[in-house]
Order: sequence, then structure tokens, then C-alpha cells
Amino acid sequence: MAKITVHPKYETGEISERLFSAFLEPIGTIVNGFMYNPKHKTADEQGFRQDVIQALKDTHLPAVRLPGGNFVSAWQWKDSIGPKEERKVHLDPAWYQYIPNDVGHDEYLQWAEKIGTEPLYTINMGTGNMQDAMDLVEYTNFEGGSYWSDLRRKNGHEKPYAVKMFYLGNEMDGPWQLGSWDTNPDGYGHRCLETSKALKWIDASIETGVCGSSASFMDHFPAWDEKVLDQCYDVVDYLSVHHYHSAPANDVKSLLGGSLYYEDFINTEAAVIDYVAAKHRSPKKVMISFDEYGCMMRDNAPLHPGWGRYNMARSHFKFDPERPYLLHDPDKMKFFEFPGREILHMLSFLSVQLAFLRHADRVKIGCMTGGLGALCASDHDNVWKTASYYGYTQMLEYARGTSMRTVVDCETYDMPGYAIEDTSQYTGKEGVNYIDSAAAWDKENGRLTVFAINRNEDDGYSLDVDVSGFEGFTKVTHYEIFGDKDDPDKKSSVERQDAYAPAQNVKASLKEGICSTELKALSWNVIVFS
Ligand code: AHR
Repeated sequence: MAKITVHPKYETGEISERLFSAFLEPIGTIVNGFMYNPKHKTADEQGFRQDVIQALKDTHLPAVRLPGGNFVSAWQWKDSIGPKEERKVHLDPAWYQYIPNDVGHDEYLQWAEKIGTEPLYTINMGTGNMQDAMDLVEYTNFEGGSYWSDLRRKNGHEKPYAVKMFYLGNEMDGPWQLGSWDTNPDGYGHRCLETSKALKWIDASIETGVCGSSASFMDHFPAWDEKVLDQCYDVVDYLSVHHYHSAPANDVKSLLGGSLYYEDFINTEAAVIDYVAAKHRSPKKVMISFDEYGCMMRDNAPLHPGWGRYNMARSHFKFDPERPYLLHDPDKMKFFEFPGREILHMLSFLSVQLAFLRHADRVKIGCMTGGLGALCASDHDNVWKTASYYGYTQMLEYARGTSMRTVVDCETYDMPGYAIEDTSQYTGKEGVNYIDSAAAWDKENGRLTVFAINRNEDDGYSLDVDVSGFEGFTKVTHYEIFGDKDDPDKKSSVERQDAYAPAQNVKASLKEGICSTELKALSWNVIVFS
């Protein structure tokens, strides 16, 4: 037996439209293949796959952070505009690939326009200088009459793109980053102060985001973040953070409990922001942008005693004479499949999204790595719907309005600490709820939605959802997606797109403000009161 209580007095904060956005970086065939293939049967005049565009458009994805990622820290955007035959081919040392720039600055933004999604633009703050950043905003957002804005018009986009959000670099604290500021947070913070100021003098309507730690594993976390913000607090709007959760192979409890580490990270960053705001006597509240996240199961790798907690620097300082630079042919796209069970992939990222929803007062942007693939599975030829598509689009549809606190009373489990390798080391957690939940009150549409994940692989629970504090709800609809015990590896495919389509649990009933229903083992549940 489990119980979730939601009360109208316990509001957490407004849910930002951008909270469930995606992240796009040209690694492998994500751009060359998935987004762009002039030889594809649905290719449009720009070489974009229209099957992908249509599928993403249908999801109403609010925003996409682009174009990367580590890639962007050496990307010379000026070489990616204008006639294609004049564009320069560069090397991307972050991912050992050629960048032919067939998809350049304008194409990224025009692709987003075609989908009807907001581009959240990442500026090269690695090898790029302040003038490049200023020229970029002038090219992108200025009406006309200046060199860069007129060049945009000449290149075919008469109107400004009106990009609202600019990130000042990607993971600038990481020693693996090209042009890293790992050892100099004050320097990076000062550069952000100057750059953000200049960009806002060109376009006062924009927002900027400054990099915080790329993971809570970083040795310098959270001191690095505090030093950066200390330099630029009053001219930036978001602190950009990333985290990838890893659980040992087959450890479902640690995979689905991973969202608790995300919450620790969010709480610490919120505290850092509050501390710096107080120090500066600033009435402003910088918000959190969680613009890369993901969850996976991985086999343990050997630890290197004495290497400290984070070895990325060391692994990136390997200079490999054997490693070739690759040119990714868009017409040779291989099918990328998320490793592991489809239901687990869906539940693990939804659990992180529920954590964001619970912290909707502080986290205003969330961009999922692999979010585009989750919404639109694809291979060289086709697109299709998977479990992730269904869960993700339900978040987009129902997680609207005001985030409401949920009080959960349920069975718990302990999650021992573990280390996958030097980069992923977890302290462990006691008393983890088997039922993970969050809620959204969409006052405009007179609807309260309670989301719940049952992290228990073996057992289901009877559940009461107490919403008796609210007035006027007369109807409850319970949608559920769950693992198939007889076929745990069940997969969606072009031919089987409804393998995980949400079903309605007809046992759900509502009496005197209490919904009685059940949560199946390993399940995703969307319980809508109207
Ligand atoms: O998504 C892959 C990489 O992970 C991104 O380029 C980088 O920002 C992060 O380290």
C-alpha cells in the first residue's frame, strides 16, 4: 500500500516552458544522418529529413540546445555561413571528426524554425573570442544596417532569428574542454561578465547562461561555480550544469534512484546561487539550466587509486597516434540503439525529469542528451515511436502550470554506494522511496496531474492519491506504461510502434477526493484529475 498526498496550498513554483527540452550536438551521425541527409527520400531543399522534422514538430518540443557540447568550443561559426561551396572544412579535436559545415549556423537555426522549437544557442568560449560572440549576436539578432546583420539578410534570412538564450560556452570547467578554464574560474567569470554585458548591449532582450560544474564529481565543485558567479552574477541569468548518471549493470535500484543525486546537485547549486546573491546584495535570482543529462547502466571499470575522484583530465591527455579523424557520411547512418531495456531507458530519464519538476522554482531549463532520439527513434530510412516517446510526450503535455509538492508514504529501499570507475562514484542513499513522484497543477485547464514511477521491479502497490484539499475534481484518468514480465526485452520498431503505448488503468476510481488505483511493478503512471 502506498499513498501520495497533494494539497493546493503547497505550491513549489511555476513550471517553465523550457523544462523538458533536448540537446543536440554534431557527434557521429546525430546531425549527419538523423537531421541532415540530402539523399534521404524525404529530404527537403536544404537536405533536412522531413520525416524527422515532422515527427519532432508533432511532439511540440519546446526548445533545443545547440550546437553542442564539446564540439562548439572550437567551432568557427563564421566559416559555416554563406554559399556551401565556399565553406571551410575544419577538424573537431573534441570528437576526432571532420566538420564539413554543410550544416552551419543558419541551418541549425532554420532547422529549429522548421520544427517550431526554440533554439538555445551555445557560443564558442573555448577558442572563440569576445568579438566573435558579439558578431554572432549581431548576425543572428540585429535587424539590419550593420555588416553582420546585412550578411545574414544576404544569406537568405531577412528577419532576425530572435534567439533569446545564449550559453557562454560549454563545460568550461572541464580539463577536456578546448580552451578550458578549469584552473581559472575567476578568469572565466570575468570573461563572462564582459561578454554578457557586450551581448546585451547589442540585444537587450537576450538571456545568458554561464557554465557551472560539468558534474558534481568534479574535485572543484562547488567552489568553481561560486567563483565564476562571484565575477558575473548581475549580468547573467542562468547557471548551466550537466550530469550523467551511471549505475552498475543490472542494478535497477541504483539506476532509478539516480535522480536523488540530481536533486543533491540542484540543491547545492541553488545554495551557491543564494550565497553569491546575498554576497552581492543582489535582488536577482540566477536560475539553473540543467542542459545535459542522461542515465545509463555500465559495467564496472578498474579504479585508479591515487588518481583522485575525477580522471577525465587524464584520459583526455592521452594523445593517441592511432586515432583517426572521421568524416561522417550522412547517407551511411547506422542505427543507434539505447543500450539496455527500453522500459528502463524511459523510466530512468523520466525520474530525472520528475526531479526537475519537483525543483521547478529553481530549474528553468532542462535539455536531455539523447532527447531528440527519445522523441524520434530513427535509422537510415525511418522514424518510429518507442516507450521513451510516449513517456516524454506525456511530460510535455501534462507537466504544465504550477509544480505541486507531493508527500509520499511508501515502502523504501537502501541504495549502497558504488564506483563504476574514477568518474562515477556514489556515496549511497538510505530510505529511497520505491514510489517516485511529482505533480503539476494546470489551473488554466482545470487539471491536476500526479506522475508516479514504481521503481520496484518485482512488486506492484495499491495506491491512494489524496487530493481532497482541492475543490471541483470529479474525474480521474490513470494512464500507465509498464514492463512486460514475460518479455522484459520487448522492443518497439517501425512495425511495432505501439509496443509501449500508454494504456488506461480502468481500476482507478475517485471518491471524496481520494483516487484509489494500483501501480504495477516497474511502471510509469500519469494520473489526471479534471
Ligand atoms: O554529450 C556528450 C558530451 O558530454 C558533450 O559534448 C559534453 O558537453 C559532455 O561532456
